[in-house]
Amino acid sequence: MRPRFTTKGCTALITGATAGLGAEFARQLAPKASRLILVGRREDRLASLANSLRADFPSLVVDALPADLAKSGERGRLAAWIIREEIPLNLLINNAGLGDLGSFDSADWNRLAPVLEVNVTALTHLTHLLLPMLRSQRSAGILNVSSIAGFFPLPEMAVYAASKAYVTSFSEALRMELAGEGIAVTALCPGPVPTEFFEVASRNGETIRAMDRSHPALATSPDSVVHEALSGLERDKPGVIPNRLLALLVRGVRLLPFPLIRTAIQLGAGTRKPKKN
Ligand SMILES: NC(=O)c1ccc[n+]([C@@H]2O[C@H](COP(=O)([O-])OP(=O)(O)OC[C@H]3O[C@@H](n4cnc5c(N)ncnc54)[C@H](OP(=O)(O)O)[C@@H]3O)[C@@H](O)[C@H]2O)c1
Repeated sequence: MRPRFTTKGCTALITGATAGLGAEFARQLAPKASRLILVGRREDRLASLANSLRADFPSLVVDALPADLAKSGERGRLAAWIIREEIPLNLLINNAGLGDLGSFDSADWNRLAPVLEVNVTALTHLTHLLLPMLRSQRSAGILNVSSIAGFFPLPEMAVYAASKAYVTSFSEALRMELAGEGIAVTALCPGPVPTEFFEVASRNGETIRAMDRSHPALATSPDSVVHEALSGLERDKPGVIPNRLLALLVRGVRLLPFPLIRTAIQLGAGTRKPKKN
């Protein structure tokens, strides 16, 4: 039997490390990891995070690799480099992701396509490319960053919520396939977290108050989201909802019949059509 995955001494690839949760994963793993590979599009941010981690943890190896994960070729190039250099990758954190807030019919395809390409295709493609490398280690972990949005269909976030439903479902199935192989697979399902996510997801610079609208008790800091996620992965949890109240609410709501949930979501989103008399 293979040992349980631990972040101690790990070699991790973190996608979306230029901001929010990804940068926080790097900061929390740095004191324990042997090597961190940081990926994102913004080179300056990657370099500055890498430099500060190297300064704080001189024995840590940090690679800053700019890549646009929406592009298949760049995903292939990243994985080929890891394999060619024989980097003993044993933790894959598929964190890069984005959303588009607003109705589906008014959406610009140029904003929806990257949601699908990064949240769904890149996560699946990188996992597929790197699974042989993960499998060849003594133990390994895959942490897929999903969302609480993946549990329910959400009007005004239809494509994003559907993309995260995919991530949660894919993670669960992969976990079943890899059971007994010493590869932990965990889906992280946070509720609202104060990062750049909502700014990126807003259209035309308009302020979407999704973060403000949510009850403060349901919001969780990046620091505690990442702490809960890494601890859940080490405990081989299938899913982590890093907020107790939210976790309780989700579990409760999922016990209800779906037509009731649908009506509640429609009422909440104000999309329920008035009945004709
Ligand atoms: N914040 C929330 O409330 C919340 C809640 C639930 C789940 N999540 C999930 O958490 C994950 C991290 O989001 P966050 O909250 O930390 O948001 P964020 O601050 O906007 O960070 C998103 C990260 O994804 C990267 N990214 C986006 N498109 C990319 C591309 N084409 N290629 C490479 N990297 C790309 C960004 O890097 P570059 O722009 O530099 O490329 C950035 O580092 C996402 O999967 C998100 O869906 C967030």
